[in-house]
Amino acid sequence: MKTFTTSALGVVLLASNVAAFPAAALDALSASFAKEGANTKRATSVVAPQGTGYLPLVPPPFDAAAQYVSNKGQYAFVAPGPGDARGMCPGLNAMANQFVSWRSITMRLTILIQCSNYLPHNGVATISQFISATNKVFGMAFDLGGFLAFFGAIVDGDGAGWSIDGGPHVGIGGSHNDYDSDSSPFMSDLNQYGSNKELVISQFKTFYDMQPDAATANYNLDVLTAFSGKRYTESINKNPYFFYGPFPGILVSQAAFTFKYRFMANKSAEYPEGILNKDVLKSFSSVSGPDNNLTWTPGHERIPDNWYKRNDADQYSIPYFFADVVRIGQTQPERLVIGCNHGAVNTFNAIDPATISNGAYTAGQVAASPLCFATEFALAELIGTTGLSAAQLAPLTSSLQNVTKSMNCQSIGSVNMSALTACPGFSFYGGPTGPIAPGAIQS
Ligand code: HEM
Ligand SMILES: *[C@@H]1O[C@H](CO)[C@@H](O)[C@H](O)[C@H]1NC(C)=O
Ligand SMILES: *[C@@H]1O[C@H](CO)[C@@H](O)[C@H](O)[C@H]1NC(C)=O
Ligand SMILES: *[C@@H]1O[C@H](CO)[C@@H](O)[C@H](O)[C@H]1NC(C)=O
Ligand SMILES: *[C@@H]1O[C@H](CO)[C@@H](O)[C@H](O)[C@H]1NC(C)=O
Repeated sequence: MKTFTTSALGVVLLASNVAAFPAAALDALSASFAKEGANTKRATSVVAPQGTGYLPLVPPPFDAAAQYVSNKGQYAFVAPGPGDARGMCPGLNAMANQFVSWRSITMRLTILIQCSNYLPHNGVATISQFISATNKVFGMAFDLGGFLAFFGAIVDGDGAGWSIDGGPHVGIGGSHNDYDSDSSPFMSDLNQYGSNKELVISQFKTFYDMQPDAATANYNLDVLTAFSGKRYTESINKNPYFFYGPFPGILVSQAAFTFKYRFMANKSAEYPEGILNKDVLKSFSSVSGPDNNLTWTPGHERIPDNWYKRNDADQYSIPYFFADVVRIGQTQPERLVIGCNHGAVNTFNAIDPATISNGAYTAGQVAASPLCFATEFALAELIGTTGLSAAQLAPLTSSLQNVTKSMNCQSIGSVNMSALTACPGFSFYGGPTGPIAPGAIQS
């Protein structure tokens, strides 16, 4: 099998902290994908369980004891009650849907000492709770969990924590177009449905049917990437306010797809990188019922029985995610093109990166380095748009700068957000509910 250089792979496997990521590694990784990805795609008959051309080449061996995730005892599933926040992120919802008892002192001390509860049942948590839960339950590396948790707190929360639902400045439910993006896999586009956290059964069913045989179904990155192209087209066709921006589009939106396989797949000795089958997908998506009558129950995402997470030697880090985005761009290049509908369906135009980056990036440069553009744009946009001070933004800017430094990215001095007024769907905050655009098509 023709494959990627093992040195690049080794670096990714070891890169649980992006600060330790050597400068040239991502370039080397991207170059090896660019050179060899296409060959691999055609030349191999046995597709890796994660998909064609997606890392890792050789997963670490399965370790049942270390990778088992309990959903028993203090972690048993408990459905959310009326006061509990549940939002558009199935991973966070699932982690909040377990029993955390504050009734017994013993239980409380146990939890504090072991720091072992997943997430508070009410769906509101601190930065460190999000970081440790995402690592413990899903094997999200600390650089990625840290970035996401700090972003939630600083941009969308109260600085120290945030709600997994909530409105603007309360939680990620109010994060439309800074975090929450259009053309998500299963969740509704805000201005197509009036909500950003409604699971649209037709979207789910399109994906579900892409693996017809339940016995062999595996919703891997090949399936997810093909589906991401369908969703992009569907938003153009049905959401008059579709907006696809540098950070929420090029970066966050890919994560909404890759996270399904990368985090939800059940790992095993036979398939250490995991298989995401129909039952596990349904459990984590809060969808139940037979194939001809699939039903979504809001907020009941559930960690399946006997489910195994990523190996700690194979945690999903920022560089690992970036390598996935590079690979996505090879088969669905439009997923890395920013643009918007102009108030009616099928009026999509690409946004000229040169205009919004004040000349720092041309469309050609973005095509060559989409990750640099999206990351540098986020950096400049946060400084210009949030109204927060450099000190308040420091945890985020330092994390982003670490990434862009290692990739030698061209920086963006300032962003021109007024160019985005041509996009009626653009807002930096909004949700979890919003107006339905005139002419929106629901299905
Ligand atoms: C602190 C960590 C996290 C934050 C801040 C976060 C935030 C978000 C946000 C804002 C979205 C909406 C994205 C969009 O509209 O495209 C989302 C979607 C998603 N998240 Fe998370 N998330 C986190 C951790 C996780 C974890 C650990 C998983 C593991 C399974 C996960 C799985 C997903 C998936 C699969 C979606 C797409 C949902 C769909 O539309 O089908 N996330 N998340
Ligand atoms: C479909 O599922 C829903 C919810 O579980 C149920 O109420 C309904 O009767 C089912 N419809 C059919 C045709 O089975
Ligand atoms: C995960 O894989 C293991 C090993 O094949 C299996 O025993 C277990 O039932 C699977 N779990 C789920 C939720 O499918
Ligand atoms: C960024 O890198 C510096 C030095 O390499 C390190 O001290 C810091 O912790 C990193 N920041 C983040 C958020 O990863
Ligand atoms: C921002 O972009 C708009 C075009 O969308 C342009 O008219 C305006 O001059 C730009 N502003 C600056 C400061 O360059």
